[in-house]
Amino acid sequence: MHYTIAYEINPWMSLKRQANRARALAQWTRLHQLLTRQLGARVRLLPPAPGVPDLVFTANAGLVSGRTLIRSNFRHPERQREEPLIERYFRRQGFRVVRLSSRCDFEGEGDALWVGRTLLFGFRFRSDAPVHEELARVLGARVLPVELADRRFYHLDTCFCPLDGEAALWFPGAFDRYGRRVIERLIAAPISVSEQDAARFVCNAIPLPDPSGGRALVVHSGLSASLRRRLARRGFRVYPLDLSEFLKAGGSAKCLVLTMGP
Ligand code: ARG
Repeated sequence: MHYTIAYEINPWMSLKRQANRARALAQWTRLHQLLTRQLGARVRLLPPAPGVPDLVFTANAGLVSGRTLIRSNFRHPERQREEPLIERYFRRQGFRVVRLSSRCDFEGEGDALWVGRTLLFGFRFRSDAPVHEELARVLGARVLPVELADRRFYHLDTCFCPLDGEAALWFPGAFDRYGRRVIERLIAAPISVSEQDAARFVCNAIPLPDPSGGRALVVHSGLSASLRRRLARRGFRVYPLDLSEFLKAGGSAKCLVLTMGP
């Protein structure tokens, strides 16, 4: 693992607050084991590489649709170095790799999440608004762009997490009025989280089927008791995990994975 805090490109990162590599590796390994052994998910691993410490955040590699990867165009030069590695890996795995024709920024699943057949797309801090048209064309789907309003929640997946057809976790304060309206119309049963929970990255959670037959949610362990109760009441089994080393880079559970298909 080459994960470290080597630069500051979001408000959570500080060169003065370094990640502990051994602890980061242990936390990542626990996440991997939980997903594969306990929850039975099929996981492929993007090989680590030196000089690209944020490559662990695979949600930003692009957006997968079928056997196609719409590859990210990272905003910051520090992360643009990941692009050729991502492209090579996906080609070798047999994916068709599509680059956006425009020189617009796009940070993949970090800013693009499916709600049923609609793609919700967050823009401003990492992805550019015009990308929504190209996404709609390539995917043949409805894409709803919403502007992100709080730089602490610079990717859509830091403040919004679709849970199933009906529910989603979200922090309303991360959106402007229009964005809040879009989400309220789209989501029948939204679960809004407090600013405190949002700052612990609870929206950056991984929803997946639970082996018991219900729904599972993998989330950073800092979530409040009241949110845990609300999730339990909605039928979610919460799997809390200490991911503190990754919070130092402004990421948590969801950032560490990319959905590769049903
Ligand atoms: N340090 C990384 C960055 O700022 C964290 C990425 C988090 N990824 C995410 N999908 N929210 O780009």
